[in-house]
Amino acid sequence: TTRGLAFDIRPSSARRTPQERAELMANPGFGKVFTDHMVTIRYSAEEGWHDARLEPYGPLHLDPATSALHYAQEIFEGLKAYRHADGSFVCFRPEVNAQRFNSSARRMAMPELPEELFLGAIETLLAHDGDWMPTQEGHSLYLRPLMFATDVSLGVNSPSSTYLFVLIASPAASYFAGGVKPVSVWLSEDYTRAAPGGTGQAKFAGNYAASFLAQAQAVDKGCDQVVWLDAVEHRWVEEMGGMNLFFVFGSGDDARIMTPTLTGTLLPGVTRDSLLRLAPELGIPAEEGRISTEEWRSAAMSGDLTEVFACGTAAVITPVGRVASTAGEFTIGDGQPGSVTMRLREELVGIQFGHRPDPLGWIR
Ligand code: COI
Repeated sequence: TTRGLAFDIRPSSARRTPQERAELMANPGFGKVFTDHMVTIRYSAEEGWHDARLEPYGPLHLDPATSALHYAQEIFEGLKAYRHADGSFVCFRPEVNAQRFNSSARRMAMPELPEELFLGAIETLLAHDGDWMPTQEGHSLYLRPLMFATDVSLGVNSPSSTYLFVLIASPAASYFAGGVKPVSVWLSEDYTRAAPGGTGQAKFAGNYAASFLAQAQAVDKGCDQVVWLDAVEHRWVEEMGGMNLFFVFGSGDDARIMTPTLTGTLLPGVTRDSLLRLAPELGIPAEEGRISTEEWRSAAMSGDLTEVFACGTAAVITPVGRVASTAGEFTIGDGQPGSVTMRLREELVGIQFGHRPDPLGWIR
């Protein structure tokens, strides 16, 4: 029971067999395999949050006039659950995801979900689908909470008055096929991800829809990922694809890291925030700041900028090797994963998987 709301448990009569599960989990990739159940919770203006259920994973039946399909009132989160050596299942800072979910909800004029319900949904799903928690080294269970508008109406004068929250889970290997290898990036001048006053800091589905064309252009230019610049001057570096960026200056004992300040157009990543807090614990000063595309190039050329990496829940930390734009291209360091990048990755993954102490109390 969470806030007086008990989850109605409706187990699946069509659970996959242990063999089917083992086959699906041997090579899960990212976001392709789903567990046997899902959690749903309904909201209406009259009743508030109600009808919380664990039910068999499966298709949702939606009226074609469901407003989310027309006007994209839809937000989501992404976080992972891990199996620790003592057999326990843990999450990494799930309350931060719960809080960001609600800040996204406010921006999209959607109702907030009480944090206990967000966390209760995760606990309920993990309690029933624990067989889907990977045992393979480095694998985890990716949790995807989402919420969308369910009013059957084409009106646009007011937001929906009803919503559906859904939580699904997906066993995951690492996000980028091929593991930790540097990616090349294209600095996008033709497209922007977010503008001041827009939806950039919300984990809003439409932000991702609007990114696919720019990502395709980056691939067209021979790069792996798109890098977003600010919408006004096309000059200040914001993010890479669906991940935040970090810049490493100096090396050895003098290394320090910097990530673009949250100006309102950047997604406030949980991994980003965690690295800003964790790095100083390891003796690596960390700060928020800003960097232009010209500074990026000149600092890489002079050697002041030694490493660049992107971070996010799905891929954790991904080194950036080559940077290309209409102005030409350059390489960061020798184009190989840097030592600060790899150390931070190891420390963070170590905390998440329970191989290292958790100095900041992040494991739940
Ligand atoms: C992440 O890095 O976790 C992301 O947000 C990407 C995700 C949308 C797959």
